[in-house]
Amino acid sequence: VCIVGSGPAGFYTAQQLIKVFPVWVMLESISTLGPFSTSVHSGVFDIPAVDIYERLPVPFGLVRFGVAPDHPEVKNVINTFTQTARQSRCSFYGNVDVGTDVSVEELRQAYHAVVLSYGAEGNRTMGVPGEDLAGVHAAKDFVGWYNGLPSCRQLRPDLSSETAVILGQGNVALDVARVLLSPLDILKMTDITQPALEALAESQVRRVLIVGRRGPVQVACTVKEVREMVNLPNARPEMVGADFEGVAEALKDLPRPRKRLTELMLKTALEVPGEKEQQRRSEASHAWGFRFFRSPVEILADPERSRTAGIRLAVNRLEGSGEGARAVLTGEVEDVTCGLVISSIGYKSLPIDPSLPFDSRKAIVLNNMGRVQRAAGLYCSGWLKTGPTGVIATTMNNSFDTARSLVEDMDLGTLDVSVVKPGSQSVAALLEKRGVKPVTFSDWEKIDRVELSRGEAVGKPREKLSVTDHNGHRQEMAL
Ligand SMILES: Cc1cc2nc3c(=O)[nH]c(=O)nc-3n(C[C@H](O)[C@H](O)[C@H](O)COP(=O)(O)OP(=O)(O)OC[C@H]3O[C@@H](n4cnc5c(N)ncnc54)[C@H](O)[C@@H]3O)c2cc1C
Ligand SMILES: NC(=O)c1ccc[n+]([C@@H]2O[C@H](COP(=O)([O-])OP(=O)(O)OC[C@H]3O[C@@H](n4cnc5c(N)ncnc54)[C@H](OP(=O)(O)O)[C@@H]3O)[C@@H](O)[C@H]2O)c1
Ligand SMILES: *[C@@H]1O[C@H](CO)[C@@H](O)[C@H](O)[C@H]1NC(C)=O
Ligand SMILES: *[C@@H]1O[C@H](CO)[C@@H](O)[C@H](O)[C@H]1NC(C)=O
Repeated sequence: VCIVGSGPAGFYTAQQLIKVFPVWVMLESISTLGPFSTSVHSGVFDIPAVDIYERLPVPFGLVRFGVAPDHPEVKNVINTFTQTARQSRCSFYGNVDVGTDVSVEELRQAYHAVVLSYGAEGNRTMGVPGEDLAGVHAAKDFVGWYNGLPSCRQLRPDLSSETAVILGQGNVALDVARVLLSPLDILKMTDITQPALEALAESQVRRVLIVGRRGPVQVACTVKEVREMVNLPNARPEMVGADFEGVAEALKDLPRPRKRLTELMLKTALEVPGEKEQQRRSEASHAWGFRFFRSPVEILADPERSRTAGIRLAVNRLEGSGEGARAVLTGEVEDVTCGLVISSIGYKSLPIDPSLPFDSRKAIVLNNMGRVQRAAGLYCSGWLKTGPTGVIATTMNNSFDTARSLVEDMDLGTLDVSVVKPGSQSVAALLEKRGVKPVTFSDWEKIDRVELSRGEAVGKPREKLSVTDHNGHRQEMAL
């Protein structure tokens, strides 16, 4: 089996497959002796292998390039992924861009099954004028920048204005707000990249507004992340009390996690703080706040039309209530002065091969329990399967489900494993012919050791090496 993408979806799918394969081989061997031996698989006596192909030279997807630098505990899943990668029947081939260096069709010919788990590498667009002005960034790129994603190294966001506006109220929006407002002393103890740290040291951003099209009861972030905002040293909350009208009354009907989240927002927005907290707030040099019932209409340019000077927001009202409430325009608009706009309205999967049955509206590969529609032997897992929502645990669950579908198909014979397939051998030959040099897992472990020791030297858990991916020039890494 080969897997495309080495984020949580790729690794959890691999882990589950490796776990069940020995049992499968044993059962099949027994069944060939008994009365069920209608189909004698010759291929099963080869030990099944799982090969992971990854576009970047380094593994782990959003765990390395998405998860916020100040959330190191989340990255512990890397230990589990490393155990999987070190198994003798699992191989990692980094620096291989599927769709460019090798096609999905070529992989399907080389392997009995191909699992696509290449995540969501694009961003949704706001679809408003001015979106492409300097000073407007997709959260995906801003996050990639502070986390060292090769394609975002040159981003150099302009942090010279006082107010930044973030559109969207999910956990990614809060990650971005926190990184913009965190004291440097905290950030410099994380694995944030050195160029980002230096840029943030010079940042003039003092106020971050987190703008949502709906109300407090519809925010997409979770309570832990809001609490981190409330606890930010040197920052005071700046909310609009009127946005919370009727919210206290609605509390009792909310499901528990949402209730706790809403209570925390209410308290932060409306409760008069104690003396100590009042003192802290009045001394804080930075501020953050949610702005509700607002949709972007236009990014406003400075007089030279060279960069962002503000954003025009439409004022909405809600139709319906609870999670399903819809934002409806009132016709009123409002301008906010700001020099930085970060659009955090969601990631988006891209079709890497024209042959894939791709639903471009939902931006997922059409599938049934991870079985790609009308394509025997082709599977999908992770954000490509479900769309770009859910934490790592959600991705783990849906990846295990895909692995189960695959094994079920082997058991039923709908996935034909009777012919021997060449696997990585034939792909390696193709890659060599095309001048592509894969990075193995032991290569990565060398990079890892270098990063850890460079980090240690400066008091960080890791100092990421900047590597160049395909969109730049292919670059041999100095190890
Ligand atoms: C900014 C951010 C912060 C997050 N923070 C948290 C958090 O704190 N806690 C939590 O539980 N969850 C968090 N999540 C959610 C979590 O990251 C996702 O649930 C999970 O990463 C999705 O896994 P995936 O494998 O589907 O995608 P990804 O992690 O994106 O992995 C996809 C992999 O495929 C590779 N790839 C792409 N195209 C190709 C190609 N053509 N050929 C080969 N390989 C390819 C990519 O390089 C990448 O390595 C966060 C998400 C984001 C966006
Ligand atoms: N610490 C963590 O655990 C952590 C950190 C980061 C990410 N993650 C997870 O990763 C997933 C992705 O996070 P995310 O923040 O990118 O996505 P998200 O949670 O889906 O949030 C997207 C936000 O964008 C808004 N939005 C979408 N389309 C819009 C539009 N056209 N105009 C205006 N607003 C729009 C949404 O509002 P509506 O609700 O109105 O659509 C929502 O507020 C989530 O499941 C998240 O929990 C977890
Ligand atoms: C997001 O991606 C699209 C390409 O699909 C791009 O045109 C757009 O400007 C990006 N950025 C934002 C902020 O939406
Ligand atoms: C994952 O699946 C388990 C078992 O089915 C379930 O208990 C858990 O809540 C799921 N987790 C997520 C985040 O979906």
